[in-house]
Amino acid sequence: MSQRTLEAHYRPNWEIAQAHGLTGYNCGYAERRGCGTFSEHQQSLVWRLLGDTVIDDTATVLDVGCGIGGPSGWIFKRYHPGRVIGLDYLGSNVQAAEERWRGRVDRPIFLQGDAHRLPLDDASVDVIFNLESALHYAEKDVFIRECRRLLKPGGTLCLGDITTHKKLLFAPVSLLNKLPSQFNSNVHLWSGCDYKDAFRQHGFEVLRHEEASGPIADSLADGLQEIKRYGWRASRGFRGRTLFLYALQFFMKKGQLTYDLFRAVRK
Ligand SMILES: C[S@@+](CC[C@H](N)C(=O)[O-])C[C@H]1O[C@@H](n2cnc3c(N)ncnc32)[C@H](O)[C@@H]1O
Repeated sequence: MSQRTLEAHYRPNWEIAQAHGLTGYNCGYAERRGCGTFSEHQQSLVWRLLGDTVIDDTATVLDVGCGIGGPSGWIFKRYHPGRVIGLDYLGSNVQAAEERWRGRVDRPIFLQGDAHRLPLDDASVDVIFNLESALHYAEKDVFIRECRRLLKPGGTLCLGDITTHKKLLFAPVSLLNKLPSQFNSNVHLWSGCDYKDAFRQHGFEVLRHEEASGPIADSLADGLQEIKRYGWRASRGFRGRTLFLYALQFFMKKGQLTYDLFRAVRK
């Protein structure tokens, strides 16, 4: 996948984030529909995925697919671990995350890199956080093997992703991966069971698994409500993406798309 292609895919997200003051690029998690802002839902999803993961002041946390740095920053502020490293494939995302923390000494570090070849030493990380990014990875097995390599024994992988058990239904979406530029969706969907099997095969024990499409669809519904308030003119840069979010919410409500949250420990 080229930088340019993924860049075109994420451009409307940047427009939404700018208009909305968001620092996360995820779907969010609503405990209850209509209760909280979309930005709060995005943070709730981060806490939900981390759950009771222990992060002490010596821990190294790696956020793979960190986007524009919201989740890395929230984790840093809540736990003050030894290090939070946010890594993203897109240079523009890394730059936006850097911009947010410019001039601060005590802060996460941001790197450009690819989840398939993580630029860190063996057994150097305590927690890997991976939220709504692996749907873009063509070779998820390679990524999970990389996670095993980087994690210390007993280290935790927290992975949340959009999934499906109806792969045939979404096959046309994968066909779009072959098209150039903005028509390219860069999506390779797995089911929750695919993930569970892969974790087992690569030496992880799954401690917790939640299928969260209900609260995720509720969060998207709240987010769409907020977008509506911008009106037609202000939402010019992200009308297409708004339709995409409606579709995502629709398929989640119908159970054709799912959203799986995993906490797995490296054996
Ligand atoms: C939906 S966004 C989620 C961002 C962030 N986790 C959040 O919750 O705000 C997915 C992110 O994964 C990144 N990504 C896609 N493919 C990647 C890869 N191969 N390696 C690293 N990051 C990747 C994208 O650039 C994008 O920033």
